[in-house]
Amino acid sequence: MASSNFEKFKSDGTVLGDVTEWIDARFPMTKMWKEHLSEYYAPKNFNFWYFFGSLALLVLVNQIVTGIFLTMHFKPDASLNASGVPVAFASVEYIMRDVPWGWLIRYMHSTGASAFFIVVYLHMFRGMLYGSYRKPRELVWIFGVLIYLCLMAEGFFGYLLPWGQMSYWGAQVIVNLFSAIPVIGPDLSLYIRGDFVVGDATLNRFFSFHVIAVPFALAGLVVAHILALHEVGSNNPDGVEIKKNKDANGIPLDGIPFHPYYTVKDIVGVVVFLMVFAVIIFFTPEGHGYFLEYNNFFPADPLKTPPHIAPVWYYTPFYSVLRANTVNFFWIDAKLWGVIFMGLSVMVFFFLPWLDRSPAKSIRYRGPLYKGALAIFIVCFFILGYLGILPPTPGRTLVSQICTILYFAFFLLMPIYTKLDKCQPEPDRVTFK
Ligand code: HEM
Repeated sequence: MASSNFEKFKSDGTVLGDVTEWIDARFPMTKMWKEHLSEYYAPKNFNFWYFFGSLALLVLVNQIVTGIFLTMHFKPDASLNASGVPVAFASVEYIMRDVPWGWLIRYMHSTGASAFFIVVYLHMFRGMLYGSYRKPRELVWIFGVLIYLCLMAEGFFGYLLPWGQMSYWGAQVIVNLFSAIPVIGPDLSLYIRGDFVVGDATLNRFFSFHVIAVPFALAGLVVAHILALHEVGSNNPDGVEIKKNKDANGIPLDGIPFHPYYTVKDIVGVVVFLMVFAVIIFFTPEGHGYFLEYNNFFPADPLKTPPHIAPVWYYTPFYSVLRANTVNFFWIDAKLWGVIFMGLSVMVFFFLPWLDRSPAKSIRYRGPLYKGALAIFIVCFFILGYLGILPPTPGRTLVSQICTILYFAFFLLMPIYTKLDKCQPEPDRVTFK
């Protein structure tokens, strides 16, 4: 049995056994191994959608390892070198051209950022498909949304570092948004920049947040996320609680040990992911301007604003929500409404566990109302994402306004339509489809 693999070393008279025993007397190594791997019973009906948790861990490790090597050569310095090029920009060029394998490490990191968001969006979507945010997994979800917020901050801080045109002007636009906040806004944006314009002080503090503060928070949150999950146990595509049916030894009848069954399954996901990731890195690392924008291959120039400034694709749905607010309403101007709604469009995810009143967790047993609402939400998310990349026109603004309304309606009307929905009865045990 898998659970005994690690235990069997103990008291077997070998050096490995002695070392295991020595460590266990001082640190809960075997205990943790059992609790989180060999005796963590996961539902046996995990499907494709369950690859993305382990893949998120993989991309996190990729970002950290490649980030460490980039930091060895990167210089957070906005002053100009002897050739009149900002030192930070030149240090990235140096990594790309002169550091052995530097181009690969840089692309693994910059394309890795997009991969991270793709994986995390799919991981979140799985949660919405199977109601994984519902009781008793509310905290798993909340830690997840906090991770997502950290990821957004991490991407934003990181994008300034190469000190290209898009880095510079993107940061300018986003930091300026804070100045729309009444009373404290102008001082707050000054405080974030550390200067009256985006400059050397901004670059230094963004570097410090990007390499130390946010990764620390991210790592802590990921540990909390997994601890919370292992406390309550994993959900599954049927949305049934496997802990309700246990055998005489207290082991869930529909559970299998995470190790070796799911460690092996996850390796399949890892191999396929790495193949796709390698193809992208070797053949189209800039993702046709979606992963690294064309304008970012020009050094930052405070005197030359690019004709069209758009954030990277993973922020564009929220950027569209920001731009969809065009009317001054009450005493609040359109810009501040935009900032408020953009913030709300992310924060609203926190409330999902309490907005959903459906008797069924999984989409398999939910009625047409939730299925329809989720489909409309996803379509709107894509449309908002696409429109956020393009310059605004009156027509596009109208479409993004409609999509913004539908986006919020998905959440705000959820208590009503999930209650009215005609669900099928959930099975007692997991099924295989
Ligand atoms: C660095 C980012 C993240 C990492 C490394 C991570 C890791 C994991 C892992 C390893 C699992 C267990 C395996 C699985 O169920 O796929 C998991 C489950 C889960 N994660 Fe994440 N996660 C991340 C971000 C998020 C985000 C942003 C959310 C939602 C906002 C989220 C929500 C969930 C939920 C609800 C589960 C339980 C799923 C179930 O049991 O059906 N995670 N996560």
